[in-house]
Amino acid sequence: MPRPISAEERARIIKALEDFFIESLSPFEMTHRAFRESNSALRRINETLEEEAKRIAHALHDEAGQLLAAVFLELDKTAADAQPEMRERLEGVRRLLEQAREEVRRLSHELRPTLLDDVGLVPALEYLAQGISERTGMPITIEGFRDSRLPPSVETALYRVVREALNNVVKHAKATRVRVSVQKEGAAARCSVRDDGVGFDVSSVAQRKGERGFGLAGIRERLGTLSGTVQINSAPGWGTELLVTIPLET
Ligand SMILES: Nc1ncnc2c1ncn2[C@@H]1O[C@H](COP(=O)(O)OP(=O)(O)O)[C@@H](O)[C@H]1O
Ligand SMILES: [Mg+2]
Repeated sequence: MPRPISAEERARIIKALEDFFIESLSPFEMTHRAFRESNSALRRINETLEEEAKRIAHALHDEAGQLLAAVFLELDKTAADAQPEMRERLEGVRRLLEQAREEVRRLSHELRPTLLDDVGLVPALEYLAQGISERTGMPITIEGFRDSRLPPSVETALYRVVREALNNVVKHAKATRVRVSVQKEGAAARCSVRDDGVGFDVSSVAQRKGERGFGLAGIRERLGTLSGTVQINSAPGWGTELLVTIPLET
């Protein structure tokens, strides 16, 4: 018969067990905390960069736009007073300036689509898709809600992810069409980009080390700061689907 354990002894054993657990759990707890902290630092850096991009984009758009408008006016006045030969040369200058204006618009939009701030993710994606379709001839369908907004950091992340995904389709997929859909499902935002192209072997690409901040690796990194995930379904001959989920804080 084992000797019964006294209350005192039991308390001592429980205390020892407690100490043991606290000691073995604390490295885990510390790693977890460090992870959470570095994650929120990354998120803050991302937000700061986005803010800065927004500022530069709006300055480019507004200030360069106004300056150019003034130059156009002056050019018109000069042309009106000029001899025919000079007028022709001024017409050439005007065409060059128009190219510059387009380029400034494009750059400003690349940096930060003003549509994203003003009307939201889905219209901004439609504008993006329209540009890519015009350039490449590939039809892109955008489906999603327009009646409500997502948190700015989520909208920005999804916009950048879809842009990279569409660039990938153009670059690699040889697809005939793409479908993008954005949905709110419970407490998460979900986005899918599906093409009917050649597909690829996801596991072998995942082993390649991408340039940080770009491509699929960049997508994973950016989503990570928002506790989001990306799942890629693809197989040679089947096409590719990118499925992104970002939890929404409630
Ligand atoms: N939609 C797609 N269709 C076919 N292949 C793709 C698609 N998206 C990505 N890939 C493949 O995955 C690789 C990695 O993509 P990514 O990380 O964006 O790098 P990059 O586009 O610079 O090559 C691509 O090189 C390509 O082989
Ligand atoms: Mg890419």
